[in-house]
Amino acid sequence: QLPESGQFTWSAPSNIALVKYWGKKPGQIPANPSVSFTLNHCKTVTTLAFTKKQTDGRFSFDLLFEGQPKEDFKPKIQKFFERIESYMPFLKDYHFKIDTRNTFPHSSGIASSASGMAALAVNLMGLERLIFPEMTDAYFNQKASFLARLGSGSACRSVKGQVVVWGENQAVAGSSDEYGVEFPHPIHENFKRYQDTILLVDKGEKQVSSTVGHDLMHGHPFAERRFAQAHENLAKIASVLQNGDLESFVEIVESEALTLHAMMLTSRPYFILMKPNTLEIINKIWKFRSETKIPVCFTLDAGANVHVLYPENDTEKVLQFIKEELVAYCQNGQYICDEIGNGSAFL
Ligand code: PMV
Repeated sequence: QLPESGQFTWSAPSNIALVKYWGKKPGQIPANPSVSFTLNHCKTVTTLAFTKKQTDGRFSFDLLFEGQPKEDFKPKIQKFFERIESYMPFLKDYHFKIDTRNTFPHSSGIASSASGMAALAVNLMGLERLIFPEMTDAYFNQKASFLARLGSGSACRSVKGQVVVWGENQAVAGSSDEYGVEFPHPIHENFKRYQDTILLVDKGEKQVSSTVGHDLMHGHPFAERRFAQAHENLAKIASVLQNGDLESFVEIVESEALTLHAMMLTSRPYFILMKPNTLEIINKIWKFRSETKIPVCFTLDAGANVHVLYPENDTEKVLQFIKEELVAYCQNGQYICDEIGNGSAFL
């Protein structure tokens, strides 16, 4: 029995990869496994209103972004609906109103595709659960992640927290290419409320879309070695997350960030996605770390912004360092304080 109408609101956070996903196979299957920290404050909040309609063989939806109609996002949603239709056959029986906003400034250079697709996926699962009330939470989360992946690969890591693994690998039992799974072991105290301060170095449009980016790994001279390396790093970081070895954590995370950029430097066509200020910040972090022995490190996405990761205990000292030495390299002095979080939530 399909419900006539209703609405709900779910939020889903952004995530930051520690071992990076870069390269994919058809059907949004990752070429290598990845693992991320779910964030706590950078989120998309989406209200989904649904009304039953006569089935006319079409998807029907309106899209509001921060209260305004947003025509240019519609093709992405249309494509997403087409990809997930066979898993949600009731989609064409409804008219949807999707009302979405981000808690972080838009055009900040922070990708909203992960949080946005995850927020939409959990809302749609909310509707599926109305139709099948006996659904378990485990099924809900797994299928939400599966659907989110079809919207944007890394979105499958934004349904749950605090540490999510995506991509089948030897080190993490239960891992899958089709959905993200919560890291199955207790995380060491050292990572409790781990901090991520995001320095907005360049807020412009992404120079390389992730679709183009992943494609660069086809025929890339170092692809196979890179994919094997991601498996090795995932196995290493899986131990580190349990034993709390922060020195190894720093080394794996920074190496992964630089390797992601190295893949772009060595592809055809080639790209430099860091900016001079990105390098200034990295050098300052290295100097600060060697002087203070505080295990602060950086990571990067496919852009110039820098995520500064550090233990909660060191927050005061690191924030002082960021304000005194790093903010000068941020566009308009902007940065966002975030920390490890728990995933999507029903509001
Ligand atoms: O989810 P996509 O297709 O936008 O790819 C994101 C890839 C990186 O952010 C660069 C790395 C990652 O694992 O999140």
